[in-house]
Amino acid sequence: MSEPLIEAREVSRQFESVEGSIKVLQGVDLCINPGNTISIQGESGSGKSTLLNILAGLDRPDGGSVVWGSSDIANQSSSKLARIRASLIGMVFQSYYLVPELRALENVMLGGRISGMNTDLKERSKALLEKVGLGERMASLPATLSGGERQRVAIARALISEPKVLLADEPTGNLDEATGDSVMGMLQALCVDANVALVLVTHNTNYAARMDSAWILRQGVLEKGS
Ligand SMILES: Nc1ncnc2c1ncn2[C@@H]1O[C@H](COP(=O)(O)OP(=O)(O)O)[C@@H](O)[C@H]1O
Ligand SMILES: [Mg+2]
Repeated sequence: MSEPLIEAREVSRQFESVEGSIKVLQGVDLCINPGNTISIQGESGSGKSTLLNILAGLDRPDGGSVVWGSSDIANQSSSKLARIRASLIGMVFQSYYLVPELRALENVMLGGRISGMNTDLKERSKALLEKVGLGERMASLPATLSGGERQRVAIARALISEPKVLLADEPTGNLDEATGDSVMGMLQALCVDANVALVLVTHNTNYAARMDSAWILRQGVLEKGS
């Protein structure tokens, strides 16, 4: 079998607060293999976003390690990490985080530009927007798009750099049920199509159960879900 894309080994993370230190992660192990789909559920505040940030190398664990391919990322400079991250990882968030001044097409192209994926960028961005059902809305500004449409743009932006892993943090959290279902269906289909591994943080038990493996973050550790 090929090596994991990302591996968390005994990862711990705590934050200092006025009430003292909060132990958020207390020994998380997780292995993301090529093309695998993984769900992570857990109560609000259980550390799901913290874990995704650590997997993405945007936050550093206090203990344990994160390995990308065969490299422990602890000893790498943030500029080198940013360069590797750009080709390894795409991210999607609950609140979309589109650039409000940029049209849908420009938002997607920006994702490619940041990752250095400039070849045929405009054509590839258009094709991807068509694939997510926004062929008619490429010139629209985010404020004129619905929540579901904004998330589709954000998904296209995340995938334009052809990442190997997509980290999705409650991607349907701000959407009504029917819109969430359709965005989720599209997200999963795109990942399967392009053999992109998907780590899905969600409160939706049905979406979670559709992944190859399901986990629940409880008291700082990942427990096997159903
Ligand atoms: N940068 C930070 N500084 C202090 N506390 C934080 C920080 N990030 C997260 N926390 C705390 O860590 C806990 C887990 O947060 P988070 O990972 O956002 O949970 P979830 O995504 O599961 O809702 C919360 O108690 C939160 O307040
Ligand atoms: Mg969160």
